[in-house]
Amino acid sequence: MFKLFINPKHKISHINPELQGHFSEHLGRCIYEGIYVGENSDIPNTNGIRNDVVEALKNIKVPVLRWPGGCFADEYHWKDGIGPKETRKKMINTNWGGVLEDNSFGTHEFMDLCEQIGCKNYINGNVGSGTVQEMSEWVEYMTFDGVSPMADLRKANGHPDPWKVDYFGVGNENWGCGGNMTPEYYANLYRRYQTFVKDYNADNHIYKICCGADGYNFDWTDVVMDICFRSQPKFHGFMDGISLHYYTITHDWEHKGSALDFTDKEWYMTLTSALKIEDAIKAQECIMDKYDKAGNIGMIVDEWGTWFDVEPGTNPGFLYQQNTIRDALVAGVSLNIFNKHSKRVKMANIAQIVNVLQSVILTEGDKMILTPTYHVFDMYKAHQDADLVESFIESEMVGLEDEYKVPNLSESVSIDKDGKLQITVANLSLDEDYSIDAILTDSEIRSVKGEIVSGEIHEHNTFTDTDRVKKCAYEEFRAEGGKLNFIIPAASVLHLEVEI
Ligand code: AHR
Repeated sequence: MFKLFINPKHKISHINPELQGHFSEHLGRCIYEGIYVGENSDIPNTNGIRNDVVEALKNIKVPVLRWPGGCFADEYHWKDGIGPKETRKKMINTNWGGVLEDNSFGTHEFMDLCEQIGCKNYINGNVGSGTVQEMSEWVEYMTFDGVSPMADLRKANGHPDPWKVDYFGVGNENWGCGGNMTPEYYANLYRRYQTFVKDYNADNHIYKICCGADGYNFDWTDVVMDICFRSQPKFHGFMDGISLHYYTITHDWEHKGSALDFTDKEWYMTLTSALKIEDAIKAQECIMDKYDKAGNIGMIVDEWGTWFDVEPGTNPGFLYQQNTIRDALVAGVSLNIFNKHSKRVKMANIAQIVNVLQSVILTEGDKMILTPTYHVFDMYKAHQDADLVESFIESEMVGLEDEYKVPNLSESVSIDKDGKLQITVANLSLDEDYSIDAILTDSEIRSVKGEIVSGEIHEHNTFTDTDRVKKCAYEEFRAEGGKLNFIIPAASVLHLEVEI
């Protein structure tokens, strides 16, 4: 028996809906086929955007979508993706399989996609191979409401009104694919480029995101923040947020292992790697605290998720992988960690939304499947816009070898706008069910509803068997007074909604 202590009266921080954000890149079959099929496709679409995918994304309340990359962002020239489609420039996607990019999906199509989903937009600008002028004109094109060369061009291209740009990233992974820069060099470029990411409208403050580190690259964050804060501390280092990337890798970058065919030991190896995101977040928080004591700057975990070897027979540059109960667990523990750090973490975008890495949706022609990860997001949406409350769960270490032992349980608890408690718990053990006694301080439980994602650890959905893993109703609980006992099966992610 393990105890879960919850103090509903002690609110810790607000859970931004954006903690459940997504990332879409011109990579493999994410944008083309996965999202955009063109107006002439037989697949039902609105302005070329798949209706089935949009409906599924609306259901999980996707709060924000990042685009166009990733590595692609730093070789993307936005003017190639506007105007009549037949005259749009074609280019080679050098990062991802060397395939032809016809630019038929550009700024207008992305904004339309976000409007159809009903989510905020996060545009990632090009520092690596783009100019300050190009970035500045993109912002002017999207947001300026007066008479100007770029606003006029937007109008000529059929969009009289400006859009609201919610988030803008100044470069991506500029320590790597975004230009192989040193932190000193990037920080100075950041200061310069961001100057021209202007707020043209009083009611549209663009949240500027500085390119941060990869996992444990503490030097990058420290140097970039130091230079950005130098001599002008009152401007918050000229940033609203700084990014962090962290991928769950089971072995190493050369041999990442199969998404479907894995051993018990690899189950624990993957979860060990997933949990280490919290070490990266804590360390980066310490560095941010050093410069931004008031906590004004958000940590933006704008790429996270599992990264396995591609599915056999698929293009290695397309990063297409299947998704099992193991991915559901990675999603569950990661989202719990983001909730627990919601004081500093203001956005997190899983990589990537469709057909790439840890996707919530996979497509094949006109077929679509929802992955186990999708169903976890479907349960966790209850945390969006709620307040994290104080909670603690007892746990023990489980696993097969010392190096790959993980705590058996992970949780986070929030209280939503209606005063309901939203409890999410993940059981990381592959073979042990646990009985949990939740103790709620000063509370009387009035009703409980449960739902769960569980199954044999390799279980996944296929295009011929789409519903092997799905969210199911769950009733293995008993409530009395302020106590709630429930059983959590091995290898599962559980959501309980408690009315108090
Ligand atoms: O998500 C795939 C790639 O991973 C992104 O393009 C890049 O930013 C990261 O290295």
